[in-house]
Amino acid sequence: MLVRPHWMRDPYRRPASGASALGRARRAVYLPRMGQYLQHVFVCSIGKSCSKAGGDDVFREMKRDVRDAGLAGSVRVNKAGCMNQCGHGPMVVVYPQDVWYAAVDEEGGRRIVDRHLAHGEVVDDLRYIAPPGDNKIDDAE
Ligand code: FES
Repeated sequence: MLVRPHWMRDPYRRPASGASALGRARRAVYLPRMGQYLQHVFVCSIGKSCSKAGGDDVFREMKRDVRDAGLAGSVRVNKAGCMNQCGHGPMVVVYPQDVWYAAVDEEGGRRIVDRHLAHGEVVDDLRYIAPPGDNKIDDAE
């Protein structure tokens, strides 16, 4: 079993007795800053499989929603190439929480911005749980 150091664990998944959504969001604010942005989002929109599945539309939607939510100064959304999870996408990853999302469509991108990026709540139904490393579906490309 992979045991991560405390600073790499997902603060949103850690059970905190009686933690409310607001409490989780407050805790997120006090995470150590990661470089220039509080959160950095990568949307697989260049890789073959995710681009066919609409990754670029998800990227545009999330970029627009982050700007409209007034988060542009603290949240950066970037296009990304293949993350070796082809066939599960479009893939979205949020750092520093290291939360991965799969099969994200435009509506899912809106929910990630609204719930995760703005309020610190992981969108559980889109969360990608897979073994560490490559998880390509062979005929995904
Ligand atoms: S193309 Fe997106 S994970 Fe490979």
